[in-house]
Amino acid sequence: MLDQTLAYAREHREPFLKDLFDLLSIPSVSAQPAHTKDVRMAALWLAEHLRNIGLKAEVKETSGHPVVYGEWLGAGPNKPTLLIYGHYDVQPAEPFELWTTDAFTPTVRDGYIFARGSCDNKGQHMAHVKAIESYLKGSGALPVNVKFLIEGEEEIGGPSLTAFIEANTELLACDGIMISDGSLLAMDQPTLTYGLRGIVRLEVTVRALDKDVHSGMYGGNVQNAAVALAQIIAKLKDEQGRVTVPGFYDEVRTVDAAELAELERVPYTAKEVLSETGAMRLFGDPDFTLPERKGSRPTLEINGMWSGYTGPGGKTIIPATAHAKITCRMVPFMTPHKIAQQVAAYIQQVAPAATEVRVELFDGTPGLLIERESPFVTAAAQAAQETYGNPPIFELEGGSIPVVGDFQKLLGKPIILLGFGLNDDNVHSPNERYALACWEKGIEASIRFLAKL
Ligand code: BES
Ligand code: MN
Repeated sequence: MLDQTLAYAREHREPFLKDLFDLLSIPSVSAQPAHTKDVRMAALWLAEHLRNIGLKAEVKETSGHPVVYGEWLGAGPNKPTLLIYGHYDVQPAEPFELWTTDAFTPTVRDGYIFARGSCDNKGQHMAHVKAIESYLKGSGALPVNVKFLIEGEEEIGGPSLTAFIEANTELLACDGIMISDGSLLAMDQPTLTYGLRGIVRLEVTVRALDKDVHSGMYGGNVQNAAVALAQIIAKLKDEQGRVTVPGFYDEVRTVDAAELAELERVPYTAKEVLSETGAMRLFGDPDFTLPERKGSRPTLEINGMWSGYTGPGGKTIIPATAHAKITCRMVPFMTPHKIAQQVAAYIQQVAPAATEVRVELFDGTPGLLIERESPFVTAAAQAAQETYGNPPIFELEGGSIPVVGDFQKLLGKPIILLGFGLNDDNVHSPNERYALACWEKGIEASIRFLAKL
């Protein structure tokens, strides 16, 4: 059955890639209201695709973007049921001018598929879809029962997915959960993620005046909102990158020497960070190592700030308002709401004179750790070794996948985080890409994993 299924996947490379391209062509940007219809289009496309390959599938409504649910339960009640999670929404593609080819016109160049969502996450959950198609079409059946949950709000923190899972725990009942939404350390070095950071978001608005005014007539006599915002932001971190908000680090998990030594062996170093980002040198808390700063320490970042005039030429005004978008990444055992409140309170405390500062807090998701011992993880490790040539390394990941905490709480089953992308795939950046080799190996890894189960 395994050989026949692998052969089917090899023989159908072209149509498989065409199907991925169809999905990549839909600009399902969950953050932008102008794309709400496209988000739904992607969900409809996926549900129809799952039906075409032999699953029962439908688009299910939530209070926000819809969810795609699919199942094949033909292996019967004595076989395990695997839940496969993915997200069909993507990050905004802006700035468009930095893309070599259009973000939503998938193009193959130098062995890579270029498109927004190619790696994060359409190319990864579609690898599982194609693995399942290979079983059903190539061998007539799957060795286990399979359910799909593919959602459209991951990139905006999943505001309505938690309620959907709460209301559908029966539907989603399973024995283990497979999530491919991350990276391998190298083409021959698979990676199992055993921890994710959480995230919480805030938005700051500084108001100093009723309207933008002439900087000559009033300069010297009134506060400037842009300057005031800059002063606030400058107080949030010190010169070494440590967050200066009181209490910020109070509940951070301490990593013991054994775990630290294991993390130090992960082949991800300054070299990779510098070449992937273009940074001049590493920058971060000198008391911690690179893997700690990525996986086991919290951060505070400004994601965007705007104020005044930014068009061509100059404009001699004093801006009335200034805005910043902030996110904090959190590790166990920090509480998102508490952290957001601490940051907001500190911003109010350091607010410069003659300003009115408003801080909006959004829901967050906590950092988490994943059980490393389960038959599901063992099966994934064996499948990864056979596919990529080496046993997987366990790693703490810096990014967040909000649903994982919900799965732990509401489904309570083993979770596998096995990424199919590479760290230099430009996720969330211009020219996002996904190696054709990653695409093909991802399908193979999924096929082998299902066989091991
Ligand atoms: N796939 C990423 C998360 C990720 C990144 C996992 C790197 C492993 C390595 C996911 O799609 C993502 O970007 N999540 C967002 C969540 C946020 C918007 C709530 C993130 O981490 O910024
Ligand atoms: Mn993402």
